Amino acid sequence: MYKIHKIQNRRYIGSKIKLLPFIDKVLNSEKINFNTCADLFAGTGVVSEHFLSQNKKVYINDNLFSNYIFYNAWLSNKKYSSEKISKWLDYYNQSTDYIKDNYFSDTFSGTYFSYNNAKFIGSVREHLENIKKDLTEREFCILLSSLLYSADKIANTVGHYEAFLSSEPIEIKIKLLPLEIKRYKYQPIITCQNANVIAKDINVDLTYIDPPYNARQYVNFYHILENIAEWKKLSVSGKTLKFPRNEKKSDYSKSKALHFLMDLVAELKTKYIMLSYNNTYQANSEASNNKIKFNEIVNLLSGFGKLKIYDSDYKFFNSGKTFFDGHKEFLFVCKIK
Ligand SMILES: C[S@@+](CC[C@H](N)C(=O)[O-])C[C@H]1O[C@@H](n2cnc3c(N)ncnc32)[C@H](O)[C@@H]1O
Repeated sequence: MYKIHKIQNRRYIGSKIKLLPFIDKVLNSEKINFNTCADLFAGTGVVSEHFLSQNKKVYINDNLFSNYIFYNAWLSNKKYSSEKISKWLDYYNQSTDYIKDNYFSDTFSGTYFSYNNAKFIGSVREHLENIKKDLTEREFCILLSSLLYSADKIANTVGHYEAFLSSEPIEIKIKLLPLEIKRYKYQPIITCQNANVIAKDINVDLTYIDPPYNARQYVNFYHILENIAEWKKLSVSGKTLKFPRNEKKSDYSKSKALHFLMDLVAELKTKYIMLSYNNTYQANSEASNNKIKFNEIVNLLSGFGKLKIYDSDYKFFNSGKTFFDGHKEFLFVCKIK
């Protein structure tokens, strides 16, 4: 078991943690020098983290609030008191004074978490709300991130919250861990927005685009983390106990996805676009089919500039080729004209 939470230690569909060397290799072979960049569908934040650690100025965005909390915890440069963080983590791990039945245990016991763990998670979250006024925004985000990562580790799931396992959640005692926090040269700009809404504000050398490509909604995958992060204590419904979340559903998982991508690209002020494309989350269902086809991206991006396409074996394809087989990761790089 880990003694510390690291930003990459979470189960997140589509995380590019393993593809960072591929991204570097493509940037190098294209000789792309950049100082400023935007990660508009930042997910776990590991791509942004990679750029921040290379002293780039980074704009980080995702439309999920739980991800916004994580970026503020891990990737911000704002001050926080490590003593205060340790004091509260110790208190949560050692005391039982603050533990009582709550919204979370009433709603989720015996599903994604055992009764005791659901009671712990809800009690810590409620207590955090009560001490919020005595914490800086970053301190609050650090403590909440510790809770979310610890809860995620013991959840009774296969790694996301589209369903809980049919077996009873086992009683692994949940423990809050400190975060591994690094220092970066520049404070990033962190937002929690629909990428299409903020696109007009983007003016950077390099824009990295990694949207969802199929009908599986990220808010459905991670609704439990979103529920804990927002703590609106909404009523939930259905077998998988999701809160009402229409406004968080992504246009990129709908049939008009290509139009949204076109609008996004048209709005950006950027010298280069780097776009990740994959069909790795394949299953035999309509929901898993990509909404935007490989050739549609080729056509779209070649209209904006000079396009190169790499697959993760580091081969590159001339745009115009219709090659797309099986389960692969691609990087499209467009030098905007
Ligand atoms: C494939 S994941 C990105 C993974 C990320 N590159 C990483 O390495 O962790 C796509 C992300 O886009 C976010 N998203 C979906 N639609 C969005 C939108 N319209 N605006 C902003 N973010 C969106 C999802 O919440 C999800 O985190």
